[in-house]
Amino acid sequence: MEPLGQPFGEPGLGTRQIDAGDADLGESELPGPGPDSYWEWMAADHPPIVETLESTQCWRTEDDIDALALAWARSPWLRDAFIELHGDLGAGKTTFVRHLLRALGIRSRIKSPTYAVVEPHETPDGLAIYHFDFYRFSDPRELDDAGFRDIFAGPGLKLAEWPENAAGRLPIADLALKIAPMNDDIRHVTLRAQTSRGQQLLAACR
Ligand SMILES: Nc1ncnc2c1ncn2[C@@H]1O[C@H](COP(=O)(O)OP(=O)(O)O)[C@@H](O)[C@H]1O
Ligand SMILES: [Mg+2]
Repeated sequence: MEPLGQPFGEPGLGTRQIDAGDADLGESELPGPGPDSYWEWMAADHPPIVETLESTQCWRTEDDIDALALAWARSPWLRDAFIELHGDLGAGKTTFVRHLLRALGIRSRIKSPTYAVVEPHETPDGLAIYHFDFYRFSDPRELDDAGFRDIFAGPGLKLAEWPENAAGRLPIADLALKIAPMNDDIRHVTLRAQTSRGQQLLAACR
């Protein structure tokens, strides 16, 4: 099966064009058993947009992350979104997640999920958040067995570090962030919307 999304390489664009205003992706019934029907359903529920939209930001300090985190924490489009985080070790992926979770009201310790692969959280107002780190994920087929598909099929915010290591087994992300360190402190960040929900999130941080 082809990967559903190819952030920051050749655009992995689907053939189904949707209107940018058609942002209500709705609730869907899970299809019957079988990986193919599942992933087809996933692709249908997260329809790729034909024209991907990008914007860039500069994080001069970690404080700059808060502007983005607070804007998204206020946006209804963040609920149920899937956001991929790209960048080398030490780029700032986990740091971004920590700022976003704090902005969403998470007060408990935020562990990096490098060993557990996923750390679940819940905000005071009941939003489920799943923080994935696929750094140590060597065989993407593990995803089929690990119950992760249920998480991606369900409600809640999904954030994934190292999605490359699960390529072809994840639904298309609403947004892909690429974090590139310029030096110890400064990060150049590219935000790419890949669905109409992603476009709404991009608009929310302009
Ligand atoms: N502007 C910045 N944005 C994000 N992280 C920064 C920034 N400046 C310094 N850092 C530091 O860079 C490191 C990023 O580490 P981490 O978030 O664990 O990276 P990753 O999860 O991408 O491997 C942290 O120590 C963080 O404090
Ligand atoms: Mg990390």
